[in-house]
Amino acid sequence: MALSQPLASAAGSPSGTPISYFECSKCREHIPADAPQTVCPKDGGSLWVRYDLSPIRSRVRREQIAVRPRSMWRYRELLPDAEPVTLGEGFTPMLASRRRAKLWIKDEGANPTGSFKARGLCMAVTMACHYGLKKLAIPSAGNAAGALAAYAAAAGLESHIFMPKDVPEANLVECKAYGSDVNLIDGLISDCARIVGERKQAEGWFDVSTLKEPFRVEGKKTMGLEVAEQLGWRVPDAIFYPTGGGVGLIGMWKAFEELEQLGWLDSGAKRPKMIAIQAAGCAPIPKAFVEGKPVSEAWKDAHTFASGLRVPKAYGDYIILDIVRRSGGTAIAISDEEMLASMLDWARNEGIFLCPEGAAATAAYDKLIASGFLKPSDEVVIFNTGTGLKYIDVVSKAMGITRSANGNSAAKPTERRIGGIIGPY
Ligand SMILES: Cc1ncc(COP(=O)(O)O)c(C=O)c1O
Ligand SMILES: [Zn+2]
Repeated sequence: MALSQPLASAAGSPSGTPISYFECSKCREHIPADAPQTVCPKDGGSLWVRYDLSPIRSRVRREQIAVRPRSMWRYRELLPDAEPVTLGEGFTPMLASRRRAKLWIKDEGANPTGSFKARGLCMAVTMACHYGLKKLAIPSAGNAAGALAAYAAAAGLESHIFMPKDVPEANLVECKAYGSDVNLIDGLISDCARIVGERKQAEGWFDVSTLKEPFRVEGKKTMGLEVAEQLGWRVPDAIFYPTGGGVGLIGMWKAFEELEQLGWLDSGAKRPKMIAIQAAGCAPIPKAFVEGKPVSEAWKDAHTFASGLRVPKAYGDYIILDIVRRSGGTAIAISDEEMLASMLDWARNEGIFLCPEGAAATAAYDKLIASGFLKPSDEVVIFNTGTGLKYIDVVSKAMGITRSANGNSAAKPTERRIGGIIGPY
């Protein structure tokens, strides 16, 4: 396959690893990877991509990675062997907090389309091209739609987008700009997923919903690989991940498993505590976690200004809950008021404009330090999953900003009833 020059230089030469098979996350059945797959035909379980990593163990040393291009494709031996459709995703900055030693912000806002969704959709579109698929459909809370729209445009594929009608303005505008077929739905991502499910067969769409195809996890896995590399091939004590469908949390856990198989993590390393953060207005995972249940119940009347966290029930909830428990982590819900306060705290004291989902994670950090679940001496990586700039309309409303001659008319956020002003969505 021909690879155009700019793509080649951003990604490095493609020489990934052949996929051995897909493995069902429920019944462990192996499914051949010579054709595109969705979920396990027997039980609907999400599929893992499995490789034989033993040849890589002897062929590649982690020191070789350091000199490669600064994109997620630097880990190509841990990704499928396919021509990358790349826009320069990944290898985002790991910013040291100015106030807390051993606290890092992994700033995913630096990705193409301004969020971590670029990684998963880059991989899904790359593999769609590999398998010869032409029409992709996605139900999305907003940022995944923007990412699919961009990568589909780069690859010359059709993208059919279904997202709630009240998504942040940036998500609507970017999808339109990339030339996608945009459908705004009076409902939540779960309603969008239902519509895609009903129409996909007749329309000939391939459904790239969260955890209903295996490659978005592979793309998001690179966040775990980067965390390890950027810390000098170590893992932190805890990782804070704002969780909707949970793809990043699941992908990072897979990354640590594969790094251990390769012997690339310093020996005896304990896996990080995985902390899943949701919004108080939509918290199925913390609820199931506290109740000791293996799966979540669909959350009713989901509302939060962190639109990426408005996921009433994650398809892979059983995987998320299992990982959080096995890691010794926890799941915690944060109110919109707490998110906005933390967003302003980080903007004003660290110069970082978090997205609301990232601010949920920073607020959760403060709470878990205060409760003693974590110590200030613990090394922690917090995922800021997107740039706050994608939420300008939402944050502007939440801050009560109006334009005036001196441009300084924001009401103090503590004086506003955030939920009442911007929600419920
Ligand atoms: C900025 C942001 N953070 C977090 C999430 C949740 O991501 P995931 O579905 O991978 O759990 C989303 C999902 O849309 C998002 O857009
Ligand atoms: Zn199965």
